Amino acid sequence: MTALNQDQLSARAREILTGNDRGGYTVPNGRVYPFQWNWDSAFVALGFATFDLDRAWREVETLFEAQWPGGFVPHIVFWKDDPGYFPGPDVWASGRTPPTSGITQPPVAASVVRALWEADESAAFRPRLEALFPKLLAWHRWFHEVRDPLRTGVVVATHPWETGRDNSAEWDAPASAVDVSNVGEYQRRDTSHLDQSMRPTKLDYDRYLALVQFGRATGWDHRRIGQTNPFRVADVGMTMILLRANRDLLVLAQALGRTAEAAEIAGWLSLADKAGDYLWDEALGAYSSRDIITGRSCGALTSASFLNFYGGVGRPDRDRAMLAHAERIAGQVGRLMPSLDPADPRFEPLRYWRGPVWAVVNYLIGTGFALAGHADWAERVRRDTGELIAATGFHEAYNPLNSAPSGGDDFSWTAAIWLHWAGR
Ligand code: GLC
Repeated sequence: MTALNQDQLSARAREILTGNDRGGYTVPNGRVYPFQWNWDSAFVALGFATFDLDRAWREVETLFEAQWPGGFVPHIVFWKDDPGYFPGPDVWASGRTPPTSGITQPPVAASVVRALWEADESAAFRPRLEALFPKLLAWHRWFHEVRDPLRTGVVVATHPWETGRDNSAEWDAPASAVDVSNVGEYQRRDTSHLDQSMRPTKLDYDRYLALVQFGRATGWDHRRIGQTNPFRVADVGMTMILLRANRDLLVLAQALGRTAEAAEIAGWLSLADKAGDYLWDEALGAYSSRDIITGRSCGALTSASFLNFYGGVGRPDRDRAMLAHAERIAGQVGRLMPSLDPADPRFEPLRYWRGPVWAVVNYLIGTGFALAGHADWAERVRRDTGELIAATGFHEAYNPLNSAPSGGDDFSWTAAIWLHWAGR
């Protein structure tokens, strides 16, 4: 790609979003991910908001049209069939219309809705906020009731895909307990679109499928899955994202004058310190996800570890430790923030969630730094993100050592993050 200037990049980003728009929802990438993904849609809405606010609201509304009665919001909505993706709707067998997966994804939606609302608080958008608010609240309540069995304010993931960081080294030890002997034969699709060396291994994939089969066998009974699933891990990423989302939902509750709901959300937020304590790994000297079955920390410093600032879990000594990690890592890579600490022997600069930089995670980290008053770090992460995109285009992820692209191209959420944040 010949170098594009700022305006040309923004025009290209808008083109990617409108090109991936399937009418009310946007696919992350037409080839590799041909459906609506939960947290992708939330980020995509931020991108649309820079040039079409109505369309931005629509993106989130469409996602919530697929919400289940108990408040759960699925990670994929299969609005239309597409043979190019595995596992498709028949494998999930959710029994829902539209068909969906049976697992969720990081709850960034409420934070995005707050941003949409604050972009234009006029009467034109108020009914849309009124309609979305109870749905967001129901989803957050689902997390607190179904996915926080120890009542420590964390979010327990029951599938690596729920974390949005599918193949992170954090899941290696917890997933090794998953029995894959009955998975059977299946045909992956991801490796026909993308280089195998960037993707999860066969063993990882067997475990992913075994967990889908486990959930399906319960009829996607989330309470039962929450208690008996062979993989149950308190994810530092989802936990910090839900904390921030609760803060933003509280602001929305106040804007709408919903006092009782505001009190309920404040109750969830009061668990923030407990959640931080549960996820702090003393030996690692950092936040890390923790297996709730064994009680063991996952022992990996990942990009999600830095979301403590975003979640608003502030303890000065731990904040200092995290900043020292940022400093050290910045000295080891070309551009921040690698999805795994380069000092970790499992670091692979091009393999999925084991090294590459994701623009969306950078956006959350940078936002967190800014909120916590670390403006220099916020700017560093924003600038790195912009430079990664400007160098080679809107890819799924980037090699932190040399900025080379990783994964699919023309990626919706990377385009959205450029428009909303990195390219400003
Ligand atoms: C991959 C990512 C996940 C994302 C999806 C669609 O599975 O790990 O976070 O939502 O792709 O972009």
